[in-house]
Amino acid sequence: MSQPIKRVRKAVLPAAGLGTRFLPATKAQPKEMLPVVDKPLIQYSVEECVASGIDHIIIITGRRKNAIEDHFDSAPELERHLEEHGRPLMAEQIRQITSGIHFSYTRQSEALGLGHAVLLARELVGDEPFAVLLGDVIHDGRVPATKALVDVHQKTGQGAITVEEVPPEKVHLYGIVDAVPEPNLGFGDRLFRVRDVIEKPSREHAPSNFAVTGRYILPPEVFEYIENTKPGRNGEIQLTDALRMLAKEQGLWAYNYDGSTYDAGDKLGFLRATVEMALKNPELGPSFREYLQGLKL
Ligand code: G1P
Repeated sequence: MSQPIKRVRKAVLPAAGLGTRFLPATKAQPKEMLPVVDKPLIQYSVEECVASGIDHIIIITGRRKNAIEDHFDSAPELERHLEEHGRPLMAEQIRQITSGIHFSYTRQSEALGLGHAVLLARELVGDEPFAVLLGDVIHDGRVPATKALVDVHQKTGQGAITVEEVPPEKVHLYGIVDAVPEPNLGFGDRLFRVRDVIEKPSREHAPSNFAVTGRYILPPEVFEYIENTKPGRNGEIQLTDALRMLAKEQGLWAYNYDGSTYDAGDKLGFLRATVEMALKNPELGPSFREYLQGLKL
């Protein structure tokens, strides 16, 4: 008899990068703490995890990243201050940031690549499937992106990643999949079986224009594949190279996410994410829209 499919309870959030694309803003402050409207970037990923049924979050940090740990620590003095000064709703919002979530931290002392960062979580993850969320990308939709992958994993028992079509001139910025549609598993035309994934190919060598957008559900066996991965693009241990082996030997699914995806990984993308998330914000949206419409450009 086949084993029951294990529930996804844990997520790994790599946050050890140097943030060089945001200098000088990130000289002393982690990129993950830059605010998009009223929340630091990394909080969007944490909220997505919670909305996807995950309650243990493993953050891979590095030097100068203490602000992340402080942000996800409880803040009783702040909560008391807000309550005593007539702001109980804000106090509750602050409490909610960490409520019911278990946070673990481990450090990546050298920037050896995304695959290497994920491998550092091996002991904390143990022998169960887990999510990986790259905080640069905000996914916003009716169903959280990680939840959509959890559903694919529940159905197939295999790993799954989100993808999105990008214009040909942008394929060199992403992992690009070679995948075939699988319309018979209940996900309509959104599900694909991955045959291969290539990290940041040139336009000529890209097998498609479906890009990996930074959400993954992976089986624990992926740690072995990462261990056997040689340095690839930029001399780094690439998660994508381990996924190639996973796709070929165990199976991997790509899900074309139907919500909005904002790649806040560089200054322009970050501005776009900020403007669009501000427009969607119930409190700020209407007056921000009015302000934008009034701009003489
Ligand atoms: C990483 C991954 C890449 C993926 C991208 C999504 O690249 O290596 O496969 O497409 O995230 O944002 P990075 O943007 O960290 O260079």
